[in-house]
Amino acid sequence: METAEIRRRWLRYFEQHGHAVVPSAPLIYDDPNLLFVNAGMVPFKPYLLGQQTPQWKRATSVQKCVRTGDIEEVGKTSRHGTFFQMNGNFSFGDYFKEGAITLAWGLITTPQSEGGYGLDPERIWPTVFREDDEAYAIWRDVIGIPEERITRRDEEDNYWSMGVPGPGGPSSELFYDRGPEYGAEGGPAVDEDRYMEFWNLVFMQDELSAVRSKSDFDVQGPLPAKNIDTGMGLERMACLLQGVDNLYEIDEVFPVLDRAAELTGKDYGALSQADAAHSHPDDVHLRVVADHIRSSLMLIGDGVTPGNEGRGYVLRRMLRRAVRAMRLLGYDKPALPELFPISIERMSQSYPELEADAARIKQIAYAEEEAFRRTLAQGTTILDSAVSRAKTAAGGATPSLAGDQAFALHDTYGFPIDLTLEMAAEQGVKVDEDGFRRLMTEQRERAKADAKSKKSGHADTHVWKDLRGKGATEFLAYDALDCEATVTGLVLDGTQVNELQPGQSGQVILDRTTFYAESGGQIADDGIIVTPQGRLRVRDVQRPVKGLIAHTVEALDGPVSMGDLVQAQVDSEWRVSACQAHSGTHVVHAALRQVLGPSALQSGSYNKPGYLRLDFAWNSGLSSDTRSEIEEVANLAVRQDLPVAAAYMTLPEAKDLGALALFGETYDEQVRVVEIGGEWSRELCGGTHVAHSSQVGALSLTGESSVGSGVRRLEAFVGMEALRYLAKERALVTELSQLVKAQPAELKDRVAELLERVKEAERALNQLRQQQVLAQAGSLIDQARDLNGVRFVAHDGGALDAGDVRTLALDLRGRLGDESPSVVAVTGGGERPVVVIATNDQARGRGVKAGDLVKVAAQTLGGGGGGKPDLAQGGGSDPSKRGLALEQVEQTIRDIVR
Ligand code: ALA
Repeated sequence: METAEIRRRWLRYFEQHGHAVVPSAPLIYDDPNLLFVNAGMVPFKPYLLGQQTPQWKRATSVQKCVRTGDIEEVGKTSRHGTFFQMNGNFSFGDYFKEGAITLAWGLITTPQSEGGYGLDPERIWPTVFREDDEAYAIWRDVIGIPEERITRRDEEDNYWSMGVPGPGGPSSELFYDRGPEYGAEGGPAVDEDRYMEFWNLVFMQDELSAVRSKSDFDVQGPLPAKNIDTGMGLERMACLLQGVDNLYEIDEVFPVLDRAAELTGKDYGALSQADAAHSHPDDVHLRVVADHIRSSLMLIGDGVTPGNEGRGYVLRRMLRRAVRAMRLLGYDKPALPELFPISIERMSQSYPELEADAARIKQIAYAEEEAFRRTLAQGTTILDSAVSRAKTAAGGATPSLAGDQAFALHDTYGFPIDLTLEMAAEQGVKVDEDGFRRLMTEQRERAKADAKSKKSGHADTHVWKDLRGKGATEFLAYDALDCEATVTGLVLDGTQVNELQPGQSGQVILDRTTFYAESGGQIADDGIIVTPQGRLRVRDVQRPVKGLIAHTVEALDGPVSMGDLVQAQVDSEWRVSACQAHSGTHVVHAALRQVLGPSALQSGSYNKPGYLRLDFAWNSGLSSDTRSEIEEVANLAVRQDLPVAAAYMTLPEAKDLGALALFGETYDEQVRVVEIGGEWSRELCGGTHVAHSSQVGALSLTGESSVGSGVRRLEAFVGMEALRYLAKERALVTELSQLVKAQPAELKDRVAELLERVKEAERALNQLRQQQVLAQAGSLIDQARDLNGVRFVAHDGGALDAGDVRTLALDLRGRLGDESPSVVAVTGGGERPVVVIATNDQARGRGVKAGDLVKVAAQTLGGGGGGKPDLAQGGGSDPSKRGLALEQVEQTIRDIVR
């Protein structure tokens, strides 16, 4: 049965049993604890925790998930995949243990001809939590499983949580006996390869306040309702129903592996022993390729772009590991163009949007491979020289590369540590891996601390969760600038307080606010909060946890206390400009896509009053014509006075309308779609906007640059700032016109003409200088000295540039002729001294070689040099030694011709 069919049957079965079918959330989800969605329940967390009331009591989904904790294990065992799909059914205070167990049993044992999965009931082995007599009894008495097939297990195996504070509970897992060829008999406790876990039923009943390990956690209390969260591994079910060994061999993954094997001429599986733990390295590499290509595809599809931190880094690492694995298999041509299209074709069976987005996805992936290929070329040279230095330094001992060198290679050149280890090992050099890891950890912690303190003003998340527990902040930014509100929370240095004194800075929580909290690229509103006794200057506004808005303020001239009735006042000028900038960003984005085509999709943006910038997927720089065209399309849209409107709808409705769901968009029952001129621009967006496009005023593109591989950045001024920018440019043109005495329209020709004249003048000057230099030559010949039969001319040319020094030396040698041995030495170069030495045939006949002499001179100058016996050049750093250098040359000649 194809994976896509398993998925369809799942959704149909639970829909028939009263569950609402909810689409998968994107892999990037708005949760500060998560890099990626890692379980089916993530989008339902607020419902499971009782923070929000769902519209349904039962729901089902097939959720895209990424887990990268075990990335090193990929390919080595059959169970680790970085991307997978979790089929889930959820009950919010509706059915509990018995319902979950009978529903699961029904789907897996119903024959395939009747729409189920048709597993053999005799081969199913459930486990339950040690103390869960209730679940045990349901399996035994309601389902009728013999006791010897039901196992009780500890927290480690049968208590599930997200690994971070949140909901959790005892679980019951379902295992399938794959048969004696996979291992020993005796159930999941004996062999988890033979007995393969495929479904986890979690009886969610606790809220956890801390999770230290799978078996060590603190239960804060019961959840408001008893819920069900289940997760069936779609890939694992596919393994079972397709009769293959592991997830790399299922229909959604194998075609990529197969193509990789074909490209590299490997016979997959032939060299491995039957035991999965002893796979041949070639097979492991092939599986890494298949897994990472699919995961990268899904990540790029959801808006991740390769980068050096966080999610971007995970993607970069996977793409590079895939490329690297292909190289280790002996394939060093660009590999991704061979493999991505296959994965796209497979995965679009279930995710048709990938097909539509293919051009953009490929562009990002291929650009990353190109960048990596350059890195490999560059980093290899640097690694080689570090390795040879390490060898020299080691003397006889085992050479070792310091941790900071490996770190620098990684940090600056994106050189993966495994690559450094391997390439160093090939040359018999060890790497201080511990030192490297220490530096990595330090860097990661610095980054984490930075991100945390920025978002939350240094407060621990539990402070925010506490405050959020008292209720959500009512968000009025779309409707008003001012509102009355009550102070419901005050935070000073990360702890809750009752009062902020004048001069103190901290965070204020209000029951409602008109202040826009930074998000979606738009920075926070500026303004003040007027309290009964003074004013608070608002410095920043953030959402430290979902639903809670924290104003970072400075108390100006009076204290503020809990419960104060205050007036929130957004600076209206600021807001007008902020709206202009955000609407302007949408206008530029739409114009960009109109001019470049739909694959130029925004990957990030930032806007503040007067200014906007937009990062987008594109491989090459934009010509000035293209930039002008984008600017023109954007300003035409401004002039057309298109209406701007925001509407709320479900995500599928928004997608049907073609709204652009950018990175980081989250699944919620209702999304906000901002339109400019109807379908002219339609984006999912939570920002504040003008009412008509003409209110954007003007847009003036100021720059376009590269910000990493495959990503370009456009910057623009908006509204009054755009006009000011243009006014400044005009003033500049006027000044320049006066300076070069031309009309503005003639400015370009006039400047070109002036530049031409400057070039002419430089040429003439050069000629003149050369003539002067050479004019000295005659008198220099007269000063030639006789060193035991060798004529020697030495001259310090002072500031003469290197070219002139050489010309002069050659001219002098020519004038000295071939009759007798002669040597010329000329210095110059000003602050960066140079020396040129020339000899004729006869001098060389007496053993005087220019290359040898230049070494002596350059050493005296504090540098080095070399060349052939007839002509050599060198340089140094100490201009005061020029005279001495010439004397040393003379002395050396004397020594030779003695
Ligand atoms: N949330 C549970 C899991 O991920 C079902 O295993």
